[in-house]
Amino acid sequence: MDLSCPSLTLLLDLVPPHPWPRIPSPWMSTPSGSSMYFPRIPHGSLTPGHTRSSPGAGHGPGADVASASSAARGRCGTCTWSCASPSRRRARRLRGRARWSCAARAGAAAELRLDAHPSLAVSRAALLPPRPFASYGSALHIALPQPPRAGQLLTLLIDYEAGEGPGVCWLSPEQTAGKQKPYMYTQGQAVLNRSFFPCFDTPSVKFTYSATVKVPEGFTAVMSATSWEKQKDNTFVFKMSQPIPSYLIALVVGDIVSADVGPRSRVWAEPCLIEAAKKEYDGVIEEFLVVGEKLFGPYVWGRYDILFMPPSFPFGGMENPCLTFVTPCLLAGDRSLVDVIIHEISHSWFGNLVTNATWGEFWLNEGFTMYAQRRITTEVYGLPYTCLEAATGRALLRQHMDATGEDHPLNKLRVVIEPGINPDDTYNETPYEKGYCFVSYLAHLVGNQSKFDAFLQAYVNRFKFQSITADDTLGFFLEYFPELKEKGVDSIPGFEFDRWLNTPGWPPYLPDLSPGQQLMRPADELAELWAADSLNMEAIEAVDITGWRTYQLVYFLDQVLQKSPLPEGNLKRLSKMYPKISKAQNAELRLRWCQIILKNNLEAEYSKVKDFLHSQGKQKYTLPLYRAMWGGSEATRALAMETFSATAPQLHVNVQNYVKKILGLAAAEA
Ligand code: BES
Ligand code: ZN
Repeated sequence: MDLSCPSLTLLLDLVPPHPWPRIPSPWMSTPSGSSMYFPRIPHGSLTPGHTRSSPGAGHGPGADVASASSAARGRCGTCTWSCASPSRRRARRLRGRARWSCAARAGAAAELRLDAHPSLAVSRAALLPPRPFASYGSALHIALPQPPRAGQLLTLLIDYEAGEGPGVCWLSPEQTAGKQKPYMYTQGQAVLNRSFFPCFDTPSVKFTYSATVKVPEGFTAVMSATSWEKQKDNTFVFKMSQPIPSYLIALVVGDIVSADVGPRSRVWAEPCLIEAAKKEYDGVIEEFLVVGEKLFGPYVWGRYDILFMPPSFPFGGMENPCLTFVTPCLLAGDRSLVDVIIHEISHSWFGNLVTNATWGEFWLNEGFTMYAQRRITTEVYGLPYTCLEAATGRALLRQHMDATGEDHPLNKLRVVIEPGINPDDTYNETPYEKGYCFVSYLAHLVGNQSKFDAFLQAYVNRFKFQSITADDTLGFFLEYFPELKEKGVDSIPGFEFDRWLNTPGWPPYLPDLSPGQQLMRPADELAELWAADSLNMEAIEAVDITGWRTYQLVYFLDQVLQKSPLPEGNLKRLSKMYPKISKAQNAELRLRWCQIILKNNLEAEYSKVKDFLHSQGKQKYTLPLYRAMWGGSEATRALAMETFSATAPQLHVNVQNYVKKILGLAAAEA
């Protein structure tokens, strides 16, 4: 633990006529005519460092075992990274040069370690070759001539080539919406950016970065940066002036265009989707930002733009600062999935400004964000709707805990991530929904919404630009409310803070969702009717669902799923009666309908499961469906195999590996 880092510079250059490399797959029937290569642009400059005082990688509390780097807690020096130029020789390579300047701390060793990945071929600066660290990365050891003096500035220059690591996704034209040009994107969270560039890949270290990206005519580059400028020769210059952790650096190069949807917001998408993207969110984003600022304090990131990704993007949304990446599934035509946008906006305060110091404390990012999301939703859409949406979240937590058993060690808020365990493999609903319950419990202890809102704002202000642990959060809570500390609210039997953090299981406190009853009750009653042995068609026909909102239908379908399998014949009738559900294009409805089809063995509609899995690659949609298929009949198992073999090449490599695990096609390692 002797070094940490503050700033990074990236240069990329994409120029024809060399071909953008392609890998043959069932999804790429014809070779692409498009072409590009990335000549190297030398670069290097220093930017000022950033001070932080929170735990970092290494030993002791808040140690990040998921990083092999010598990133330190405490003061940062400066560092600059420049990366450039994919190789002209080999397919899908990104040749780069990284230049890091880091201030040494007292007692620093004569070796510096960066996170890297086996897919990253380092050709210079690594006096020692990368050493294995874990399945998800390697350690790049750089020997220094001698141990540095405290405060000594070290500048490293690293030439490397990033290949097909898990953080860098190279898509063929067929894998895009427009099917004309190739596309590349990076996805850093949680520990994937070490395959994009050598770095201190731990959320406990924050740094600024700048980047210059030169792309061929017809391509545009965008990044998670506070400023974006197009210069001559199709060169884009980015600067992120606020310190961020490595996982929030993101790049897209593709045939993308933008349209304004608000005073500080635009949507980005491939040309064929831009109209739909603009229509979906025109004029609505600003209100969320304004409400967020009112509740949680200034929005420090300048712009808030949204990029609609290709269908294989594995998440609903990814909160890359200034530029959220989202699945095109959000283009529902009716804004019904806007809660994902509100969620990603909420990360602007919780996650991006106040960051979990390690992935074991992920609930600090996601639990607070769920709470913030629902505070914004309450202000904008009212409490009944928010409670309805929260009820669907609670159903997901129920399903998760039923599937794993409540006592599963991942069902704790503070997860113990043992060395060697990939933090991405610990992903589940607990940090989101149990985290939401814990934050709601803290609000319940305070007993007054505006006082709790003021606390949240003070919390953001206290820890902004830092990476923290739950101890920091809860310590600050008790400091902020001394009367609660006096009362010993942290140790109320059954609700001890320690139990919340360290005991797996169902949340000891659930926020009251009864204000949503007016929307949920009709859905509960209708699900009851459909679950009856002999259907009361008169009562069923008396319920008019045409005016129901998407989340009411989602809630209804969750109830039907819970009661499934329904008595013989009921589902067929339900399917016929509600084409709004069984023929829905909305992804949240399609997911539930597919789950119901599988749980009821409705063979006539198996093709819908296949079609849905062919149309998108979101992890949260894909895995539950494969689990359901694999846990079902011989026919559904065959369907799983057939669908996976056709769609695997289009899935993100992590999602591919998780599916393989479900289907027993991979060792536990995957
Ligand atoms: N930051 C997450 C996505 C993520 C988590 C990527 C862990 C990689 C590792 C993002 O903010 C998120 O939670 N997205 C959700 C949105 C939902 C909760 C509204 C998603 O993708 O479903
Ligand atoms: Zn999130």
